[in-house]
Amino acid sequence: MVESIGSGGVPEGVSRLRVRTVEILPGEVVLIDQLALPHEERYVRCRTWQEVAARITDMTVRGAPAIGVTAAGGLALAAAAAAAASPADPDGFRAALEQAAGGLLATRPTAVNLRWAVHEMRLVWTACDGPPAACAARLLARAQAILSGDIESCLRIGEHGSALFKAGDTILTHCNAGALATAGYGTALGVVRAAFARHGGISVLVDETRPWLQGARLTAWELGVEGIPYRLISDSMAGHFIQRGAVDGVVVGADRIAANGDTANKIGTYTVSVLAKEHGVPFYVAAPLSTVDLTLGSGAGIPIEERAEAEVTSFHGHRVAPDGARAYHPAFDVTPAANIAAIVTEAGVLRAPFAQSLATACATGECGS
Ligand code: MRU
Repeated sequence: MVESIGSGGVPEGVSRLRVRTVEILPGEVVLIDQLALPHEERYVRCRTWQEVAARITDMTVRGAPAIGVTAAGGLALAAAAAAAASPADPDGFRAALEQAAGGLLATRPTAVNLRWAVHEMRLVWTACDGPPAACAARLLARAQAILSGDIESCLRIGEHGSALFKAGDTILTHCNAGALATAGYGTALGVVRAAFARHGGISVLVDETRPWLQGARLTAWELGVEGIPYRLISDSMAGHFIQRGAVDGVVVGADRIAANGDTANKIGTYTVSVLAKEHGVPFYVAAPLSTVDLTLGSGAGIPIEERAEAEVTSFHGHRVAPDGARAYHPAFDVTPAANIAAIVTEAGVLRAPFAQSLATACATGECGS
């Protein structure tokens, strides 16, 4: 779905939203199918929370903020079903929601936005003392507000981050932290979009992002939709281009940011951060505050999802390793705060010491934990 919407208060040019990733409607959650992109643009309609959970697990929808928003939509579906099944049983209604919350939380462990969204929805169902149907309506409204809040956050991240770049810059990004990874607009790609709209002359080096190819399949597609110039590189080429002075800055997203600024993101991000540091290239993380987990003192405590070996022994479904080859597949790594020049949030550009700047930003109560 390629379209434009207004965004309320954000300047025209920065505010246009062209890719709609998730829609939360009464009785269904509609997802753009990220397994089919870039060759086919099709949509998946989920009508139960179990379908939503399955689509998060199989990565039809992926990216930390998008996972959180989609889980909120799943809970809205669970609420509607529970209200229909037990219209006069508030305890049964809440028990059904706790069961759905448990199922959704079990899907993917690293992105803290999922836990944040479930927590936000739980605040509604625990506070609601009306009949289940009325509570279900409130939960649908809250899920839709979480979705539009995520778009607003991305637009503000883009505004703040665009000031870090100038006309003519080449930005390297890893994975997909774009509209597809959020409710719309994107975090790292939101910065790229806004910098392109504000300065012009921005180009992007896109890491293909082995093994799942989020860069080659999704970031390249999004930049093409936007008309932003890019070149795709294999992950192993990043050092070459950074060493040659071809990269003015790196911007990536995040799945979880610990209290000290250590950041989990797609596997390979840490490697890029080390290269950037070695060559004096600024390395920026762009993320909404819902990605910050103040309960973890450092990145050492961030759970790292292990995915199937077959995603490594194969290349986009085609087996390349010998039969019987074993593989490792941690889906994320942790970039130490010392490698990060700034964390761009909806509250502004945060600088080291991140323990202080994150704590101050989180005082608004918007952080993931
Ligand atoms: O495994 P994925 O594709 O869900 O991983 C996504 C990433 O690592 C993104 O960079 C991160 O979630 C930030 S998305 C705005």
